[in-house]
Amino acid sequence: MKILLLGRGGQVGWELQRSLSLLGEVVAVDFDAADNPDGMCGDFTDLAGLAETVRRVQPQIIVNAAAHTAVDKAEGEPEVAKLINALAPATLAGAATELGAWLVHFSTDYVFDGSGSQPRQETDATSPLSVYGRTKLEGEQAVASTPKHLIFRTSWVYAARGGNFAKTMLRLAGEREALTVIDDQVGAPTSAELLADVTAHALRAAIANPQLAGLYHCVAGGETTWYGYCQYVLAQAQALGWTLKVGPARVSPTTTASYPTPAQRPLNSRLNTAKLQSAFGLQLPDWQQGVARMLTEISGKL
Ligand SMILES: NC(=O)c1ccc[n+]([C@@H]2O[C@H](COP(=O)([O-])OP(=O)(O)OC[C@H]3O[C@@H](n4cnc5c(N)ncnc54)[C@H](OP(=O)(O)O)[C@@H]3O)[C@@H](O)[C@H]2O)c1
Repeated sequence: MKILLLGRGGQVGWELQRSLSLLGEVVAVDFDAADNPDGMCGDFTDLAGLAETVRRVQPQIIVNAAAHTAVDKAEGEPEVAKLINALAPATLAGAATELGAWLVHFSTDYVFDGSGSQPRQETDATSPLSVYGRTKLEGEQAVASTPKHLIFRTSWVYAARGGNFAKTMLRLAGEREALTVIDDQVGAPTSAELLADVTAHALRAAIANPQLAGLYHCVAGGETTWYGYCQYVLAQAQALGWTLKVGPARVSPTTTASYPTPAQRPLNSRLNTAKLQSAFGLQLPDWQQGVARMLTEISGKL
């Protein structure tokens, strides 16, 4: 089995290199052709180059971990965001259809408007608030046009590798005297490790039973706010021996309204994962488990 992995250097891409290697030979490419096998194109702004890469590799499985994930920056460059998040996935979908290959893609809770307090199901109406959310929605619609597809919508991704909210809070807690963090956006921090492991399990099952193709919500169990997430991170870090100027008690909650950003973000990022858990016989661990593990890893206390 030959697997073409695109976006190998991102949080999820990095973990997929590990989990997909159990399924077959992984050809992993990234943005920069100079770092890729045979100088292959992995740049999502070069659609012809991307299609040529698929033709050269002739994979049975294509996994797309690349995306324009800078949510605020995307507001100022909607064409680039559309190219990377929508048109490149559409190119991959066309190539997958030609080859009869599986296409795996990741999307986001930002396709919803975040109203209400119920966890969103896959069948719920979408209504993105931002360029990122709109372009990701277009991308998942394009991917769904190829029969053998798996799309995983997720939220609040973190990993030991790469930048993310938990690491930013740790840095700021070491520099500042106090922190103020948003307490009215609710979701589930989800590790890149978990996403990569679910992807490998789901792919294996879907190859055996193609009727499993489709759209799935995939987030860790439980829920919190960015404020609750920050408090947990700082408490765990202190327990691991980190010296911080700001502990959990010195973090103050604030509202989204009092912290304006270029992109509007959903208040309710809850995703219902019942479909994924029942289709693939999986149990999703609570979000704290993965965050504690990541903190142990980056603190060097292994
Ligand atoms: N991060 C989150 O909180 C989050 C939440 C919900 C859903 N998701 C989705 O989950 C998936 C994986 O996200 P992630 O957290 O792993 O994101 P990430 O760490 O930002 O990784 C995205 C990767 O795409 C690459 N990329 C950017 N522009 C590219 C281009 N023109 N051509 C090729 N590659 C390009 C990035 O390279 P550079 O680093 O060099 O720019 C990076 O390696 C994405 O589909 C994302 O939309 C993420």
